[in-house]
Amino acid sequence: MQYRSEVAPRTSGDLHTLESVALAATRGAALASYPWVGRGDQKAADAAATTAMRAALADAPGRGRVVIGEGEKDDAPMLFNGEIVGNGQGPDFDIAVDPLEGTSFCAHDLPGALATIAFGDAGTFWSPGPGFYMDKIVVPPRAKDVIDLDDPPEQTLANVAKALGKQVGELRVVIMDKPRHKELIARVVRAGAAVQTPAGGDVGGSLAVLLPTLDIDLLIGVGGTPEGVLTAAAVQALGGGMLGRLAPQRDEEADNIRAAGLSLDRVYTGAELVAGDAFFVATGVNGGPLVGRPRKSNGTTIAESLLISRGEVRHITHTTFE
Ligand code: FBP
Repeated sequence: MQYRSEVAPRTSGDLHTLESVALAATRGAALASYPWVGRGDQKAADAAATTAMRAALADAPGRGRVVIGEGEKDDAPMLFNGEIVGNGQGPDFDIAVDPLEGTSFCAHDLPGALATIAFGDAGTFWSPGPGFYMDKIVVPPRAKDVIDLDDPPEQTLANVAKALGKQVGELRVVIMDKPRHKELIARVVRAGAAVQTPAGGDVGGSLAVLLPTLDIDLLIGVGGTPEGVLTAAAVQALGGGMLGRLAPQRDEEADNIRAAGLSLDRVYTGAELVAGDAFFVATGVNGGPLVGRPRKSNGTTIAESLLISRGEVRHITHTTFE
C-alpha cells in the first residue's frame, strides 16, 4: 500500500517560491511560543505555536496538504493530518509541521526547542499512518552509501568512520537519552566513539549531523515518525544519508500499523520518506547550538532561522521593526 499524500498536483509551480511563507510560519510559531519558555506548560506553548503557524499558512499562495501534522482531526483542532492550507493560488505542495519540536525543552527552558516545517512537491511525503516511532540513522553526505539499519552499531560506526576518513574513536554520535537506548549508548561508548545524549529533540540532533560546523557524525536510535519525515526533508535537500523503519513502542501501536497495511520490516531511505524536491525551515525558540532565541531590543524583534534548501544552509536573522 502506498502511504503518500493523495493530492494530485494541479500545477507545476516552483516549490521554492514558498520559502518565505515557510520562514514566516516558523518565525510566527517561535515568537508565539517564546512567552511560554520556562513556564512549565508544554500544551500552552504548543498550542500558541500551532495557532501562529496555521495563521501564517492560511494565505500561502498554493494548496498545501498537511501530511505530517499535529495528529488526527479529532484530537488536533488545527494543522491536523490531511488538512488543506493555503489560498489555492499557486502550486500544490505537501507539508510536514512540528510547530514546537521539543515541547519540554521549551517548557523548562532547556536549549533546543525549535519551530519547524518542511515543504515538498505534492504527493511526495511519506505518511507513517498510526506509527508514532521509528528507528533512524542520519549521516552526512559522504557516509550515505555505507549505512544499513540491520548492521550492529559497532559495524555502523566502523563503516561511517571509514567513509568520513576518521577513526571510530574520533566519531561523535547523537543518541537521545531514553531508557530504550541504554544498551545502544553503552555499546557505542564501548566501541570508542563519543556520545552526546540530549533528553530529546532528534530533529535538532539530525541537523547537527548535517551541518559541518557542529562536529557531529551521526544520529542513531528510535524517535518520532513526524520528526523522521521533517528530518528527511533536510537530509534530501542537502544530499545526506538517512534510513528509517517503523519501531512501535507498544503492542497497540504495532497492531494499528499492521491493520493500516504498513510494514514493520521495511526500511525506508530518506528518498522514500521524501520522494521529491523539498526544503526545511527551523526557527529558534529558546536558543541552542543551531539557532538563537528570539530577542527584543530597542523596538525591534529578532528571530533566527535556518533554511535548508537546494544543497544550501542559510542562517537567517530576521528583524521586525515595531
Ligand atoms: P515533542 O516536540 O513532541 O516534545 O517531541 C520531542 C521529541 O524528543 C522528538 O524530537 C523525538 O523524536 C520524540 O520526542 C521522541 O519521543 P519520546 O520522548 O516519546 O521518546
